[in-house]
Amino acid sequence: MGSISANQHAEFDVIIVGAGLSGINAAYRVQTELPDYTYTILESRNAIGGTWDLFRYPGIRSDSDLYTFGFPWRPWTETKAIADGTSIRNYIRECAEKFGIDRKIQFSNKLQASNWSTSEQRWELSVKQGNEGARSRKLKARFVILSTGYYDYNQPLETKIPNLGAFKGQTIHPQFWPEELDYSNKKIIIIGSGATAITLFPNLAEKAASVTMLQRSPSYVLALPTVDPTGNMIRKVFPEWLSSRLIRWKFLVLPFLIFSFCRSFPNAAKKIMQRQMKQSLPADVPIDPHFNPSYNPWEQRLCICPDGDFFDALQKQNTNIVTDTIQTVTESGIITASGQELDADIIVTATGLKMMFAGGAKLTVDKKPVALNEKLLWKNTMIQDVPNAAVVVGYTNASWTLGSDTAALLMCRILKRMRRLNLTSAAPTLGSTFTSPHTNGHTKGDPEGKTEINGQLQTIDPQWHGMKTVSLLNLSSTYLEKAKGAIPKAGDRGPWRPRSNYFVDAWGAVFGNITRGLRFEGGEELKGR
Ligand SMILES: Cc1cc2nc3c(=O)[nH]c(=O)nc-3n(C[C@H](O)[C@H](O)[C@H](O)COP(=O)(O)OP(=O)(O)OC[C@H]3O[C@@H](n4cnc5c(N)ncnc54)[C@H](O)[C@@H]3O)c2cc1C
Ligand SMILES: *[C@@H]1O[C@H](CO)[C@@H](O)[C@H](O)[C@H]1NC(C)=O
Ligand SMILES: *[C@@H]1O[C@H](CO)[C@@H](O)[C@H](O)[C@H]1NC(C)=O
Ligand SMILES: *[C@@H]1O[C@H](CO)[C@@H](O)[C@H](O)[C@H]1NC(C)=O
Ligand SMILES: *[C@@H]1O[C@H](CO)[C@@H](O)[C@H](O)[C@H]1NC(C)=O
Ligand SMILES: *[C@@H]1O[C@H](CO)[C@@H](O)[C@H](O)[C@H]1NC(C)=O
Repeated sequence: MGSISANQHAEFDVIIVGAGLSGINAAYRVQTELPDYTYTILESRNAIGGTWDLFRYPGIRSDSDLYTFGFPWRPWTETKAIADGTSIRNYIRECAEKFGIDRKIQFSNKLQASNWSTSEQRWELSVKQGNEGARSRKLKARFVILSTGYYDYNQPLETKIPNLGAFKGQTIHPQFWPEELDYSNKKIIIIGSGATAITLFPNLAEKAASVTMLQRSPSYVLALPTVDPTGNMIRKVFPEWLSSRLIRWKFLVLPFLIFSFCRSFPNAAKKIMQRQMKQSLPADVPIDPHFNPSYNPWEQRLCICPDGDFFDALQKQNTNIVTDTIQTVTESGIITASGQELDADIIVTATGLKMMFAGGAKLTVDKKPVALNEKLLWKNTMIQDVPNAAVVVGYTNASWTLGSDTAALLMCRILKRMRRLNLTSAAPTLGSTFTSPHTNGHTKGDPEGKTEINGQLQTIDPQWHGMKTVSLLNLSSTYLEKAKGAIPKAGDRGPWRPRSNYFVDAWGAVFGNITRGLRFEGGEELKGR
């Protein structure tokens, strides 16, 4: 893994923040679409892979199939659709190495703050170098792409577990799993019912004395085959280049159909899901309450279990599922509200991630802080009133990468347009997108409201009057609910709408309108066109 010397360039055309799936993908798009542009990647950690390097708990794997979760420009060719963490980490690293992206990464460089200067038409980034934070330096860039993921790398979601401090055993959050931990013959309680708990449960049960999954609210768990049988058939019949495309298409269309079915016929979907689960459950584990969620399938993320490993584990003697709230934690375990006493040597708090945008970096425009929660996202990518910046947000109900790639493609298209017309900045705005020094004034007392551009008030464009905000990610999971105050929103029309589906978004990224709602500066436009 290479690393470029820290001060090789102080200024870049593009700075990408984060070397996870989205950052590597954005880098590939930038270097392919704009080969003459200089770019670098800042990565606060010391490794490629983001999520897939950080998480090390037993059994860590994807929920998504890798045919769509992998990069479109480097198809996943293994027969296993669902892959373990190590395979995904290696895949991301190999892809980066193959295209020389690894040499563009500056490791242990954390973006702390980024200031857009209107007079310079540049970002100035404050970057903390080294793990102990001894040094800080400045970099300049015309564009920043924030592919920093969606959660806090240093802190898990805070949850109130009553009296947890009293526990004399070990408490572990999956985000910080100690790899050397020996849990053989230990009694383990997993608190939670999300994807992480569902993954941990069968894997811990292999060695532990006992594993209890303690959930407050149940989830839908769907068993899927790891090796897709039709995929193998397609591979036998068609040449490699075609089969990888066909398999990808299958995995693009099928989840979309399942999702659409769940949303259109929630009652039928619920019945089918529960019938499936019932067939795999041991007789002493009833659907109600353990697998009877209060919501319909796909109102929250579905949990996947490969080859039904979760259900197989439930058949074992050393496993148990409890649906109850916690009364209190004791020195040696947990007492539930209904009075059950659960013994434990280890408590695993699989209670979720703390959502975070822009990697915690402080964004300012001419020194004025950007309040992300008051901003809309333009085409789910650019932040309202913030020039030349993209945030990479993927899908929550399809492979994340599909969404990060539409964002990267869209951004490259905007960059190319700007290069062609010699424009220096592009910022989403609710104000008028027509710019000339003469019209950049403000109207006082406009009943339909105003918006601020470069420190000046401007009337909101009539086409956006009465815009309602909606949540960016259409899922009602707990951690999304908790984070609502800290993330940008989507609007109810035009380019401000939240993501719909990949087919619409991919088309929009390549052919959609990239001027509506965007305000450009510099070049031809300033000459008063
Ligand atoms: C356990 C787990 C399983 C998941 N499984 C799936 C799945 O199956 N399918 C799916 O679609 N999604 C899944 N997700 C969501 C997953 O995070 C994304 O799909 C994907 O890995 C995100 O890639 P990313 O590059 O956008 O973000 P990340 O992988 O989070 O990478 C962000 C990178 O940015 C760096 N960074 C952050 N802030 C800064 C900063 N200020 N300065 C410099 N660098 C910074 C981080 O160190 C990190 O390397 C899963 C998430 C988790 C936690
Ligand atoms: C931010 O930009 C403004 C000018 O637009 C400049 O005056 C200020 O010094 C910059 N601040 C930092 C911390 O870089
Ligand atoms: C994801 O959700 C959106 C809206 O909530 C929907 O339009 C889209 O089809 C879904 N995508 C998939 C792949 O299920
Ligand atoms: C592009 O704009 C810059 C200033 O914004 C100017 O110096 C340069 O000459 C312009 N180039 C072309 C080709 O118009
Ligand atoms: C998600 O979208 C559906 C309709 O598409 C809507 O009824 C629902 O309220 C939305 N949920 C959230 C959490 O935004
Ligand atoms: C994009 O939208 C703007 C404003 O709605 C319009 O003026 C422009 O013609 C559109 N561009 C294209 C290529 O359709």
